Amino acid sequence: MIYLREMCGAFILFAFIAFAIAQFHQDTYTVEHDRIEILKYNKSFVRRPDFQVLYYNDSVHTKALNASGHFLTSIQNNLLLEITLYRYVGGAYRIFPINVTINGCDQNKRNIFGLQSILRHTNFKECPVPTGYLYLHYYILEEDKFPPHLPYGKYKLFMDVHANDGYWFIGNGNWYGAIVPKKKN
Ligand SMILES: *[C@@H]1O[C@H](CO)[C@@H](O)[C@H](O)[C@H]1NC(C)=O
Ligand SMILES: *[C@@H]1O[C@H](CO)[C@@H](O)[C@H](O)[C@H]1NC(C)=O
Ligand SMILES: *[C@@H]1O[C@H](CO)[C@@H](O)[C@H](O)[C@H]1NC(C)=O
Ligand SMILES: *[C@@H]1O[C@H](CO)[C@@H](O)[C@H](O)[C@H]1NC(C)=O
Repeated sequence: MIYLREMCGAFILFAFIAFAIAQFHQDTYTVEHDRIEILKYNKSFVRRPDFQVLYYNDSVHTKALNASGHFLTSIQNNLLLEITLYRYVGGAYRIFPINVTINGCDQNKRNIFGLQSILRHTNFKECPVPTGYLYLHYYILEEDKFPPHLPYGKYKLFMDVHANDGYWFIGNGNWYGAIVPKKKN
């Protein structure tokens, strides 16, 4: 998600965005990743966080996400993800009226389908998230489970991630991408 420096943030961020939206269904648009930039991260929490947008393979022109980092501290409590969405209009990113706060460790709000999809690509399975080297490999968004009728265009998603009920700053960064009409086969 996202040359992320706040690894954890990003992994989990994407994971939990997927959880949160997994009750939707749509078949009209595709979400294209452009890049992810890490703005700030907590160096006593994670080292060498990295996010990559890459092609899954040469024959399928779908971009996937890789992410990794060395986590020094386990996340015991609530992981809070604050998301602010911007849409590119008239030469500038302008705030799009969706601000979401997601509690990534709330078992009751986990969507089992989103969860399973993310977990096929990572070496962490649960909260508390363990310490050590964690990764996300070749994760592809399940955009068919996104909300319907999002306007086409370029978007920026700002993410701010805190742990332990908001007391620990983990990191923040921007995802850049686009919503484009789905190609009909
Ligand atoms: C690329 O992905 C397609 C669809 O999943 C698969 O059929 C194909 O074998 C893959 N190619 C390589 C080189 O992995
Ligand atoms: C979303 O959050 C940003 C930054 O905190 C704020 O400026 C904006 O007004 C918020 N938008 C909505 C719709 O709440
Ligand atoms: C992405 O992850 C895959 C699977 O581990 C790995 O083979 C590949 O080298 C990674 N790509 C990049 C650019 O990090
Ligand atoms: C950074 O993370 C550590 C835990 O590894 C925590 O003790 C510290 O308060 C965090 N820093 C900030 C600014 O939240």
